[in-house]
Amino acid sequence: MSDQSSYPEDPLEGIELGFGAWAWGDRLMWGYGRSYNLGDLRAAFEYALGAGVTFFDTAEVYGQGQSELILGQLLKAAGRPVKIATKFMPFPWRLARQALMKALKGSLRRLGVPQVALYQVHMPLPPVNIETWMEGMAEAVHAGLTLAVGVSNYDTAQTRRAHERLMREGLRLASNQVEYNLLNRKIEKDGLLKACQELGVRVIAYSPLQQGVLTGKYGPENPPPGIRGGQYNRRYLEKIEPLLTLMKHIGSDHAGKTPAQVALNWVICKGAIPIPGVKTLSQAEQDAGALNWRLSEEEVLRLDEVSDQVEKELSK
Ligand SMILES: NC(=O)c1ccc[n+]([C@@H]2O[C@H](COP(=O)([O-])OP(=O)(O)OC[C@H]3O[C@@H](n4cnc5c(N)ncnc54)[C@H](OP(=O)(O)O)[C@@H]3O)[C@@H](O)[C@H]2O)c1
Repeated sequence: MSDQSSYPEDPLEGIELGFGAWAWGDRLMWGYGRSYNLGDLRAAFEYALGAGVTFFDTAEVYGQGQSELILGQLLKAAGRPVKIATKFMPFPWRLARQALMKALKGSLRRLGVPQVALYQVHMPLPPVNIETWMEGMAEAVHAGLTLAVGVSNYDTAQTRRAHERLMREGLRLASNQVEYNLLNRKIEKDGLLKACQELGVRVIAYSPLQQGVLTGKYGPENPPPGIRGGQYNRRYLEKIEPLLTLMKHIGSDHAGKTPAQVALNWVICKGAIPIPGVKTLSQAEQDAGALNWRLSEEEVLRLDEVSDQVEKELSK
């Protein structure tokens, strides 16, 4: 095993919450340019920095590069250091590890920065194996293009493989970004969360609000718009009502915290970093309000219990 003290700085140290930028520039799934625009994103971004949220997650594929371009534009005006995480998509036509360096350079160009804090493999797609991409990642760290290496959507065995390959390079796997929220606790149940904690790999929780559903603003009478409405339909929204009721109740015991703030705080209590997607100033204000307070252990347990009951109902 390599000497831990020789590892480079951990850019995720001390980070409790970040913001996700999938919707930034994405018209198809999220409706950029219709219900929100660049002005909304600028206001959200500036508010975030003022509130101490300085970690942003994007990807080369978000809005086909638009998310990185917008973030780059906003970064230029940021008066303080910002930590950017972006992602490499292992498209099946990317067959050699050099493709990773090339893609990273494209991301850096769009972002207008010389280095990102975290570069992640977006998902474990064939045909190239995990070890090859980790070799590419090591090259990127040694070239100073990223401070740390992450993966995303990796299961326990895949995470261990990535971790082991990087250890041989004298590097650590900093993070695994996976879906995790009160309506999807798969990583708690299949052992991934525990394995990551044992390996010292931070879990970054994506869709921590179940794509807006855990904010409580949608219901059987008003499902989310667009593509989301298919998955989170009337039947689904009826079944999750007991959980939302409990979240509202618990929030009111904490000086009027909202369900979104309870949902994000629950993720933080589990030791993961939630990265809610924000599109507007008011969403940024609300989501940053998940910081600087804590649910009690009893409240976390109660939320777990009701989320288990809801999961059973949803599986029927
Ligand atoms: N690695 C991966 O494969 C992967 C996959 C998915 C996401 N991600 C990352 O995770 C981030 C977050 O995930 P996500 O965007 O899927 O889901 P999410 O964070 O669970 O939900 C975000 C959506 O919820 C709504 N919202 C957020 N805060 C709100 C508030 N305070 N009040 C009311 N509505 C609010 C907004 O949509 P509306 O206003 O339209 O409802 C927002 O776009 C993404 O931006 C991306 O960076 C990664």
